Amino acid sequence: MADTPRPLVAGNWKMNGLRGSAAELTKIMSGAPEVAARADLMVCPPTTLLATFASLVQGTPVTVGAQDCHAEPSGAFTGDLSAEMLADSGAVAVIVGHSERRQYHRETDVEVNAKARAAWRAGLTAIVCVGETKDERESEKTLDVVHQQTQTSLPDGANAKNLVVAYEPVWAIGTGLTPTPADVAAVHGFIRRHLETRYGAAGNDIRILYGGSVKPSNAVELLHVPNVDGALVGGASLKADDFLGIARAYLA
Ligand code: 13P
Repeated sequence: MADTPRPLVAGNWKMNGLRGSAAELTKIMSGAPEVAARADLMVCPPTTLLATFASLVQGTPVTVGAQDCHAEPSGAFTGDLSAEMLADSGAVAVIVGHSERRQYHRETDVEVNAKARAAWRAGLTAIVCVGETKDERESEKTLDVVHQQTQTSLPDGANAKNLVVAYEPVWAIGTGLTPTPADVAAVHGFIRRHLETRYGAAGNDIRILYGGSVKPSNAVELLHVPNVDGALVGGASLKADDFLGIARAYLA
């Protein structure tokens, strides 16, 4: 059997955090060495904190990512940020196609694909999010939706270094609800087969994260599902103890 990829536990802080939140990052950094032997740790703060956080984590096992980017490298796009700017601020990765961007900013799979390619152009890892809504799950369209999203949102030429896929069922985000381990296994296995068909051997090494109401209390169960190579954590990533508690699932 092929080796499984090294896990990644990434915290998506969303629109949360002020300068004082550096204290929480410092706590994460102090707990990081314990888990760093088994998993990579990343914090994706709001962009206002990116440069500060990137300098704070230097020399530690923690890396810093961003939450979105524009597809163009520069230009007249008031309020937007390019992948180059995020890289210049110290990000090593950027989340693209999060369901909150798809929902509130009407982002399409084609736009997400362009953003992922922009991330690569700037030397960043693209963390591409996919996942079905409650209605889609209830009408048994989950795999169709995930197929469409992966097919169109993921660019050609992906490998384990430039791409991470995050499966985040929309109905599980911030709700306390999670799919059963069997449901997670079915979707992650489906995504794995897509990655292998599309990218050959590299598809085996691309990390597939699970996201949606991950907490220390359910992390062991969710993160040990086959083809789950880590977590994309929202609410629980805002507290160092909870975030580290999730990552400790890899010590179990
Ligand atoms: P929660 O962990 O708060 O459910 O959010 C998940 C998420 O959207 C991470 O990107």
